[in-house]
Amino acid sequence: MTNDTNLAAAEQNCAAAWHTLAPVMDLITPMALRVAATLRLADLIDDGVTGMAELAQRSGSDPDALGRMLRQLVVRGVFTEPEPDVFAVNELSALLRSDHPSGMRTWLDLDGFGGQMDLAFTGLLHTVRTGKPAWERVFGAPFWQHLDADPALHASFDATMSASPEYLTDAAGGYDWSDFRHVLDIGGGDASLLAEVLRARPWLRGTLVDLPDTVERGRQRLASEGLAERCELVGQSFFEPLPAGGDVYVLRGVVHDWDDDEAVAILRRCAEAAGESGRVLIVEAHGTSGDDPASFAEMNLRMLVLSGGRERTLDDYRELVARAGLRVTSTHVTPLDNVLIDCRPG
Ligand SMILES: C[S@@+](CC[C@H](N)C(=O)[O-])C[C@H]1O[C@@H](n2cnc3c(N)ncnc32)[C@H](O)[C@@H]1O
Repeated sequence: MTNDTNLAAAEQNCAAAWHTLAPVMDLITPMALRVAATLRLADLIDDGVTGMAELAQRSGSDPDALGRMLRQLVVRGVFTEPEPDVFAVNELSALLRSDHPSGMRTWLDLDGFGGQMDLAFTGLLHTVRTGKPAWERVFGAPFWQHLDADPALHASFDATMSASPEYLTDAAGGYDWSDFRHVLDIGGGDASLLAEVLRARPWLRGTLVDLPDTVERGRQRLASEGLAERCELVGQSFFEPLPAGGDVYVLRGVVHDWDDDEAVAILRRCAEAAGESGRVLIVEAHGTSGDDPASFAEMNLRMLVLSGGRERTLDDYRELVARAGLRVTSTHVTPLDNVLIDCRPG
């Protein structure tokens, strides 16, 4: 081979490498998509604000910068530019409309919890080097502390947790509540699961335990659903002793927020409060069942980057609850892949 042929082959290899990695390498388009969602561009354009100058004015943007960003999205198939400086919504960008049932705009909004969660990944190198959550490095305070200091962000977090009500119905429907009178939802957020459980089961009463501000949001939800009379609200940390004597202590999406030692401490508090006759019910998703390795891998990394938590397999949960003095008596995987792990004193 001549030098020229070698050079041509090397250049081709180089181009092929860029082309092959492009779909998993690009940070520009994902960021542009999030900025478009945050500025509600799909809503504005669909409502007739299609010209660049007006679009910039209505979205509080710089016209030149906005145009450059929109054209990056246009070449990637999100939005179209039917004539110079005029933009239109197409099938892909329609997914960014605020009224789209997927809630996609909220997930991508950089001012809300979804977008902030993505921005935490700019600290992934720190996480991989140290094993510590990137959140603190990127935002200056540990995850729960940061949320606590920013009520709007915390409310956005609560809303994200209770989005997709079909998952709540699926989780509540996967368990037999008929023997119980008193359900405690520990780290129960804005009471969306508790409300779901109580609504269809009039013989039950409930207690919501969460941090004080979150419990207040729960109070509003329970009142708006006419369930306030059947519920107590307790604003406290679940690392402190919990209200004793309940029939079942539910931890939905809580244990995976924490690394093993903290998770065991929370489970111990539940076990102490449940006593000899109570139960502890762990509800997790994201591939806990073993059926969705992609979801497991993504959430396992996400939980570490955010709060230092982790996803676990069913065997991991068996070991974890044993450390808290509990034993798993049954497990159940629901149609939407919620995993219910029923525990008793062991
Ligand atoms: C991932 S969310 C799950 C919320 C709810 N269980 C659900 O399924 O939607 C975790 C919850 O733990 C609460 N939390 C975090 N730290 C806490 C603490 N130290 N004590 C009590 N609750 C806490 C948060 O406020 C949040 O509502």
